[in-house]
Amino acid sequence: MRPKIAAGNWKMNGTAASLAELHSLATGLPENPPQVVICPPSTLLFRATDATHGSPIQIGAQDCHTEGAGAYTGDISATMVADSGATHVILGHSERRDAYGETDADVAAKAQAAWDAGLTAIICIGESEADRSAGTTLDVIAQQLAGSLPDGCTGENTVVAYEPIWAIGTGKIPTLEQIVEVHDFIRATLAERFGTDVSDALRLLYGGSVKPDNAAEIFKVDNVDGALIGGASLTPADFVPILQALSAT
Ligand code: PGA
Repeated sequence: MRPKIAAGNWKMNGTAASLAELHSLATGLPENPPQVVICPPSTLLFRATDATHGSPIQIGAQDCHTEGAGAYTGDISATMVADSGATHVILGHSERRDAYGETDADVAAKAQAAWDAGLTAIICIGESEADRSAGTTLDVIAQQLAGSLPDGCTGENTVVAYEPIWAIGTGKIPTLEQIVEVHDFIRATLAERFGTDVSDALRLLYGGSVKPDNAAEIFKVDNVDGALIGGASLTPADFVPILQALSAT
């Protein structure tokens, strides 16, 4: 049995005042909660790890550089993320692939840097609406998996998040059949490359418009081990019911 995991991606939301949300989340977790990782903006990493100290909530960053240090104005390294007490980092989110031209090779290099710093990489992949309409979803997924995951992937150092781009922030979600198809395909592709021991241990998250009212049915899918949640992770009122749905599966 793979331990369930819910990761909250706050994106560019949150100031010091939002630390109060972490306190209420920590006190409002369901019994037997799944693994919970909150990824606030980098300005809050140190304070977020302090605020959740002693609770089961873990903290992650939303990106990191491939290098440990250097002349990269505005960037943060995996070493710095780990220094804040964070344990995870989201990599290759479609918003970064799109806005900053991040390639699969960039994502793989960042994942290697994350591993070297002792972080778990939450590696995002997913097709666009055009890919879906063209019937090339599984080809795109295969290519992203091949390019974004370095050799040396394990169930401890990596989590894979399938996020159809057209479902992110839109309120649209794929049908359960579509989620089953892609998650089964990801598991099989990982098994081919890394062997079944590794592939059986890797957690696969679904992401894109996960809300309290659709979480339970998504979590029933066999190869869905949790979710990467954007908008609904910002307040415990939305996030806790999703955690409850996950711990009930
Ligand atoms: P959403 O975002 O839950 O707001 O759709 C998910 C994500 O971008 O990770």
